[in-house]
Parts: sequence; structure tokens; C-alpha cells
Amino acid sequence: MAAPSSSETAADLPWWKTAVVYQVYPRSFADADGDGVGDLPGVLSKVDHLADLGIDCVWMSPFYASPMHDNGYDVSDHCAVDPVFGTLDDFDALVAALHERGIRLIVDFVPNHVSSEHPWFVEAVSDPESDKRDWFIWADPAPDGGPPTNWTASFTKASTWELDERSGQYYLHLFLPEQPDVNWANPEVEAAQHDVLRFWLDRGVDGFRIDVINAIGKDPEPRDVPERMAGIDHVVLTHHETAMPLIRRIREVVDPPGVDRLVVGEVVTGDIEQQASYCGDGDGVSCTVNFVSVGASWDRDQWHLLLDGMEDAYADHDATWPSYVLSNHDNPRHRTRYGGSEARARSAALLLLTVRGTPSLYQGEELGLEDAVIPAGTEVDPGGRDGCRAPIPWTVEAPHGWGPEPWLPFPPEAGPRSVAAQRGDSSSVLALYQALLAARKASPALQHGSLELLARTDLVLAYRRVAGDDERVIAVNFADEPADVTDLTGTVVVGSNGLGAGHAFGGRLGPDEAVLLQP
Ligand code: GLC
Repeated sequence: MAAPSSSETAADLPWWKTAVVYQVYPRSFADADGDGVGDLPGVLSKVDHLADLGIDCVWMSPFYASPMHDNGYDVSDHCAVDPVFGTLDDFDALVAALHERGIRLIVDFVPNHVSSEHPWFVEAVSDPESDKRDWFIWADPAPDGGPPTNWTASFTKASTWELDERSGQYYLHLFLPEQPDVNWANPEVEAAQHDVLRFWLDRGVDGFRIDVINAIGKDPEPRDVPERMAGIDHVVLTHHETAMPLIRRIREVVDPPGVDRLVVGEVVTGDIEQQASYCGDGDGVSCTVNFVSVGASWDRDQWHLLLDGMEDAYADHDATWPSYVLSNHDNPRHRTRYGGSEARARSAALLLLTVRGTPSLYQGEELGLEDAVIPAGTEVDPGGRDGCRAPIPWTVEAPHGWGPEPWLPFPPEAGPRSVAAQRGDSSSVLALYQALLAARKASPALQHGSLELLARTDLVLAYRRVAGDDERVIAVNFADEPADVTDLTGTVVVGSNGLGAGHAFGGRLGPDEAVLLQP
């Protein structure tokens, strides 16, 4: 078990282990120029919201030049800010403002593919003899003239291969045809990608979240998958041994010895052992995105299994540990997944911020937001993910601090759930997140202590966190009926319903209620 020794302190750990990460999806965060699309000056204008909340690190989704077929995950210039988001000067100002407040910044690095409008691909297509041809993955048609393999692309569920009429060859795209995969087996590609990393490191970023990092290593011989797997998004099946050496060299560029930076790998798999394997011996990614927690239901057994499994999967890893996330820009928000209940959203916050590992919040969950309802025919995203990408309501009155025509509709109850409505209200979801983040910061046990699952009833998940003589006990009632937990005693540090802090715990949890105790 990778429980830290009792003498370990937060100062002995890499900063990211005691950090809470907050994802900013810049298109939907804050709109400074009133064009209805969020932008970097918008993020800059809200850094005090982030500081007041108490997060430690922002992860910002892509803001690079892009034709926006996949809302920025189709990059046409890695080293330019898309004009819709602002300028490099705006970016520099944002880095400075966050750092002034003690908040770190990691940015998205999208290594697996580029936009079909990226100069690399434009050259590769227009001149099959060019040096750039081998920067992408080409294959001749199958004997019947069709795609070279039976692989399925994400979003379209069509082939991952697109015919380039001019050369008669197909190119590979695990996502949209407008997102050709680059060929990391070519050392020139690797060198160019390292230059991209250095460009942003030189501008002061504290690390990267690396998009679909598992997919950068590929089988040099593309071959059919068995028919029963043919409909599965091929990115999920792309886990090749050639990825790890590439990842180790990325880590060397970003986080060499003596430097303390974060490399979060988006490893697309629901297998937590496989996720952990991408951390290598502390020389791979620092930690991964937890694909299980972001898909889990509000279900006591699922969470018990997940915590148990994560503790096991990371038991032999000293340099890394679990990470947890409930919502992000790719999945329905957890409040929506959990049926819309505020009580559940509150208890989920308490759970997320008290388990062992690095938690990641998604903008707007601190307001208890649900997904927006997107009228049929107005969808923007080819992956059906618009609902969770709705704009953040800042003010009570529509258009809630945005220009008159936001790019997506607001989530339900945008006025009463806006930042302005919740700020200063001690019963708000926002106040609960603030209390939880403060409680975490104040407790070595919560920041880096061991986690022991406690035997409980069918309804309640309970665990103990310990670091030295600091101890906390957490109990979460997943049922819509009250649960007695009379054997758990202590002082309430935070209650999910916002009540009881400082008082002795009464031994009973209400429906969907959770509590953080100091024994
Ligand atoms: C990742 C991103 C997602 C994007 C995809 C392709 O999964 O999180 O938003 O569409 O990669 O880049």
C-alpha cells in the first residue's frame, strides 16, 4: 500500500499532489468582448473567482488557432491564440495574474492529431513527395478499394480512414476527417512536438494535460480488429508499446529533474490498471484522467469498488497516485447524470474533495450546474457534448454577463445558480465548495494521508484518511432514505447540506447526505 509515512509533509511532495485542479473550457467560461464566445480576457477577468474558490491549478482546454471542427481540439497553429480567444499578450497576462494569486496553469497539448488546415498536413496532401508526407499515417486501399482496416472513428462512427483522391491513399484520423493523426514514429514529428511544449513552457506554464496520449504510439502495421470490436472507437483500442518511450521523452522535456511540473495524461480506457501503467516508474505521465469516476453513477457499490480498485492499482507506485474527476467537457455533468438532485451534487463534491488523490473540478460544478438543453437542430458539437459546455452564468439577469447571443444556451436555473446569486450565501453550493477546499487545505490527512475503506451498510460509503496524528472520517449516504451510522463519531468539519459545522455528529445521515468528520 502506497500510504505515505507519517513523517511525510506536503512540502515533501510534488505540488500537484496536494493541488486541486480546475478545468476552464475557455469558450464557455467568460466573455469579455461580448461576442457570445468566451475568451482569454474573460478568464483574466474572473481570476478572483478562482482565487476565492480556493483552487490551486487551472487546466485550460485549447485556445489555439483552429477551424473549430472539434472546438479547438483540431489545432491549425500550435503556437498561436485563435483570434476568437484573444492574443498571446492576453495569454501572458493571464499566466501572470494566476501566478500572482498562487494559482498554477497547465494547458492542453493535443499531440495525436492536428487540423487538416495545419500547414504540416496541407503540405503533406498537396505534395506526396514532400518531407511532411511521412508526418501523417498513410495506407493503400484494401484489395476491394475500400479503407485499409475496419477501424471506427470517434464521433462519426464511420471509418478512421479518409481517401486522399489526389494520391489514391488513405490517411488515418481516429477522430474527425478534419483531424488527421500525426506519425510520432517519425523523429522529426517528435522534435517538432517537443518544440511546441517548449514554446508554452517558455511562456510560463506549469505543465500540460495531454489529449489522448495513449494514441500517439501506434502499431506500425495497421490491421483489422476482430469483427466484434469493429464498432468500438478505435482510440480506446490504441494502446501500443511504442507510446511509453515517447511519453518518457515528453516527461523529460516538461518535467526534468529539479523542476516540478505536472503532466496529466488523458489515457482513454476504463481499465484503471492500464491507466496507472502510463505513469511508468514515475517517468511516464504524472497522473491520468480517471475515466471511471467521470462515468460513474450515484451508486454506493460502484464507488466502493472504484476507491478499492484505485488504491490497489496505485499501491506499488510511489511517484504517482489516483486522480478523480466527476465532470468535464466531454461528458454530461455529474449533477445531470445523478438525476438533477442538488443533494447528490453536494455530497458528490464532498466525496470528490476527500478521497486520496488529485481531484479535478470542471467549471460550473462549484455552482451546481446541470447540462443545458440544446434544441434539436442547433447542436454545435459532432460528439453530442454541447450540454456540458453551456456558458457559465455570472450575473443574475440574462444574458448573465455574456454578450447578447451566447454560442450555446445557458444551463437550467441560470439566474439563481449564477455566481452573483451564490456569492456570500452561506447555504449555496459555491459556499460548500469553498468550505471543502478550505477543509482540505487545512488537513494533512485529506491532502496526502492514507485511505482506508470502512465496512458499512449497503447504503453508506465510509472511509478514513490519516496522516500522522491528523485524521478525518467521511461518510456518504447514497440512498434516498436516511441512514444511521451511530458508530461514527466526531465533530462535523463540513456537512454536504451546509449545516452542523463545529457540532458533534448526531449519527444519522439524511437522504443523499454526506459528512466530513474530525474524530
Ligand atoms: C479528447 C478531448 C475531446 C476531443 C478529443 C479529440 O478526448 O477531451 O474533447 O474531442 O480528445 O481531440
